Amino acid sequence: MRRPLIAGNWKMHKTVAEASAYLEDLIAEDLPTSVDVVCCPTFVSLPAAAMVVTGSQIGLGAQNVHWDTSGAFTAELAAPMLTEIGVQWVIVGHSERRTFFGETDETALDRARAGQAAGLEVIYCVGETLAERDAGETFAVLERQTATLGALDPGHLVLAYEPVWAIGTGRTATPAQAQEAHAFLRVRMASIFDGAAADGMRILYGGSLKPSNADELLPLADVDGGLIGGASLDVGSFSAIIRAAADCAAGDES
Ligand code: PGA
Repeated sequence: MRRPLIAGNWKMHKTVAEASAYLEDLIAEDLPTSVDVVCCPTFVSLPAAAMVVTGSQIGLGAQNVHWDTSGAFTAELAAPMLTEIGVQWVIVGHSERRTFFGETDETALDRARAGQAAGLEVIYCVGETLAERDAGETFAVLERQTATLGALDPGHLVLAYEPVWAIGTGRTATPAQAQEAHAFLRVRMASIFDGAAADGMRILYGGSLKPSNADELLPLADVDGGLIGGASLDVGSFSAIIRAAADCAAGDES
């Protein structure tokens, strides 16, 4: 049984004060304990956020990390700087980093390795563009984007399948499209690592996941939670998705 994980990617949203207030409200929600919950605020909000979530069930994640531990890398942050203030998770290889900031499969891998070396749990994002899907290249893209992951520790790795055409567009993958991609990724993980690692690895869906479609996507056999952008910015909708994940986990057990 894989424990569901619901992670919020806040992107470039919320000031420090807004981040703290949100987290206080989220903690007050009395969330189900059967789900791992992670929030990923902006870098500048992390220290204040760490103080708020200490002792709660909310894990804290960064949205990026550099591949070196220090050096002349203007505007970057090193993994030990994150772990020192209580950050436990990091998102790597998000499509917005790939599209707007020149992230490649190689740099994403380097960042993930540095994160794991410092003790961070890595959420590694993959996913095809609309043009790639329309050209029938979805699996080839996923294969390429995961080709180097054998260099990582599968025990501290979560995959996020985020079809680029579904991110922030209001368009979601159909349950069949999501399950097909997730099943492909799990088989891929078994070939890169082994069957036990693949069975234990959580694969999150991301791309316009919200309370109204969580009930369709979260119960899928190979979907183990979500990486949520827009709908994570509101405590009510993020909590509703967490509750939907808990209901799926309870359903699986009965
Ligand atoms: P979205 O973003 O939920 O707003 O589509 C998901 C993501 O980019 O992680």
